[in-house]
Amino acid sequence: MRAIQIPRLDGPDAAELVEIDEPRPGDPHPENDVLIDVHAAGVAFPDALQTRGLYQHKPELPYIPGAEIAGIVRSAPPGAHVAAGDRVAALTMLSGAMAEVVALPADRVFKLPDAVSFEAGAGLLFNDLTVHCALRTRGRLVAGESVLVHGAAGGIGTSTLRLASAWGAARTIAVVSTEDKADVARAAGATDVVLADGFKDAVKELTGGRGVDIVVDPVGGDRFTDSLRSLAPGGRLLVIGFTGGEIPTVKVNRLLLNNVDAVGVGWGAWAATHPGYLAEQWAELEPMLASGAVSAPEPVVYPLERAGEAIASLEDRSAKGKVVVTVR
Ligand SMILES: NC(=O)c1ccc[n+]([C@@H]2O[C@H](COP(=O)([O-])OP(=O)(O)OC[C@H]3O[C@@H](n4cnc5c(N)ncnc54)[C@H](OP(=O)(O)O)[C@@H]3O)[C@@H](O)[C@H]2O)c1
Repeated sequence: MRAIQIPRLDGPDAAELVEIDEPRPGDPHPENDVLIDVHAAGVAFPDALQTRGLYQHKPELPYIPGAEIAGIVRSAPPGAHVAAGDRVAALTMLSGAMAEVVALPADRVFKLPDAVSFEAGAGLLFNDLTVHCALRTRGRLVAGESVLVHGAAGGIGTSTLRLASAWGAARTIAVVSTEDKADVARAAGATDVVLADGFKDAVKELTGGRGVDIVVDPVGGDRFTDSLRSLAPGGRLLVIGFTGGEIPTVKVNRLLLNNVDAVGVGWGAWAATHPGYLAEQWAELEPMLASGAVSAPEPVVYPLERAGEAIASLEDRSAKGKVVVTVR
């Protein structure tokens, strides 16, 4: 089969298209008994970090990048919730996606609604389930609240903008670095867009000095303190990631003085410690996608042989919206 491999930790340019053997059901673990013909694979920020050995999960070299796919089940064991011929999205978590065939455990495979294309389906699970964990499980979003999201034109950002209003947010404020990215955030559903430079004052003005109820923060870095200052009383800052590079520190007197929370969101770790969580999340999300209540992602699509470029677009910050590679 055709696959992308990362043979050395030189960054996304190291990605090469190779011919390797297809996996069989049960490779490399017996529970990987659902075989899927992959049509598209999602690209996420950890894929870029992994190519330099900078992510906490470090697959053995050479490895196949990518955490999520969409495709068609080729075979599944009797009694599984999916069967040969089903259109599915699935999590390879956190490598293995960019290949024509994957073998996965059934609990990481989800039936894709007919209305969702393979490209959109491949760009769905990683971000939408993280954002579900952030807003619903950890952030306790209540109807009528306001949500600010950093990196709003990125994968986590556009996912937050697509989902927050469906879960009751009355207002979504997108923070972006350029006017181009402002257009992406608006298309994803932002009610307001502000530039990263000076976002705190812009948010104060937009909210009449009150601030927002929730900040979704996949960026971290030097925005963190201003994000805390942008929270209304009772507000929650959801710590999702650090694309800005630096892991910020928090003076906890700020939490006390303003009655705000800094809340960690580690979706993978939450799923690993809460059996059945992924299925519960999908049971909530799938009908919303099937009915059109929530729009599917509209990813930027690269062919498989340009996977290195696709991954690099997240590293060099040029990506707009979710990025996906087509595999067949
Ligand atoms: N906690 C969890 O469970 C979980 C799950 C999934 C992902 N994540 C994390 O969430 C973060 C976002 O992932 P993603 O896939 O949404 O990434 P993405 O699509 O690349 O979006 C990230 C955004 O970060 C902003 N950014 C600010 N400084 C940047 C820099 N120096 N380099 C690159 N981007 C920068 C960019 O927006 P502007 O240019 O507009 O500032 C960019 O659009 C990553 O850190 C990832 O590891 C966490």
